Amino acid sequence: MAYLGMDLNRFILEEERKHPDATGSLSMALTAIETAAKIIAAHVRMAGLADILGQAGKTNIQGEEVQKLDEFSNEVMIKHLSDSGQFFALASEELDEPLCSPKGVNGKYVIAFDPLDGSSNIDVNVNIGTIFSIHRRVKGTEEDFLQEGYKQVAAGYIIYGSSTMFVLTTGNGVNGFTLDPSVGLFLLSHPNMKIPEKGKIYSINEANSKKWIDSELTDYIQTLKDEGYTSRYIGSMVADVHRTLIKGGMFGYPADKKNRSGKLRLLYEAAPMAFIIEQAGGKATDGRTDILQIKPTDIHQRTPVFLGSKKEINQLIEFIK
Ligand code: AHG
Ligand code: MN
Ligand code: MN
Repeated sequence: MAYLGMDLNRFILEEERKHPDATGSLSMALTAIETAAKIIAAHVRMAGLADILGQAGKTNIQGEEVQKLDEFSNEVMIKHLSDSGQFFALASEELDEPLCSPKGVNGKYVIAFDPLDGSSNIDVNVNIGTIFSIHRRVKGTEEDFLQEGYKQVAAGYIIYGSSTMFVLTTGNGVNGFTLDPSVGLFLLSHPNMKIPEKGKIYSINEANSKKWIDSELTDYIQTLKDEGYTSRYIGSMVADVHRTLIKGGMFGYPADKKNRSGKLRLLYEAAPMAFIIEQAGGKATDGRTDILQIKPTDIHQRTPVFLGSKKEINQLIEFIK
């Protein structure tokens, strides 16, 4: 039997063992996410086959058409996170209000998640993902979701693509695990991930450039072009951030005249991704403030976000300030 090496379950338990006062609650919480991820991955692979494509005929709080895979992924996340009993409350992009699960009444954590990120790419077989952010339960009220990003206990994403990868930080670096469907294990394929100090790629939807509130961004992007950068934009935040983490460079979604606070949501898109990128040695800002320092006021609030290698993000800040 080939030696499989470290897998996510063993990794989570070994991390737990590093904390003598650990109760095993975070381990159970992460294992619940892992199980949900495997189920979603299995269905994403079948999306083209089973009748879960196309519109579910509903719109979510963001006013966006909900695709069936969004709904399915949301239901799977809610079921497994609730059943784990580790989460006092759950907040989802697809839920107008947070959910308190009966089994989580004594849960030590709250979790905010985007069950399926990049929905517009489902029908064209382009990478999509799931993003999550875990905070400690403090008051046992909705305010527990409104903690600054630097207080996150754990954050991660699963990217469903040519392979399914689970990228995780618990505040002690970033590790990437690739699903081996033949044994159903996420194997440690990318230990101790570090973002390059600088890259050669910028990732931003230039179609919106005429509407950008910070017009200096156009000069910034031109400067990168003059420095020989290439452009890559997939339209799934998880895929664009994953490429940026591995190859370096920058990803951004600025505020524009249509989305005056930006399009991406702070709690379950920008903050978890910022935590991962900073843990990997990069930087994440809204252009003026570190994403991880922003005090949220609403669960579904949006923020401009620019993240990636230190060189490109520090250069951007110089243009915007
Ligand atoms: P979601 O599918 O969860 O609503 O997220 C979509 C987001 C994000 O994944 C991506 O970076 C962004 O929308 C792309 O927006 P544009 O198509 O406006 O560029
Ligand atoms: Mn999203
Ligand atoms: Mn989504």
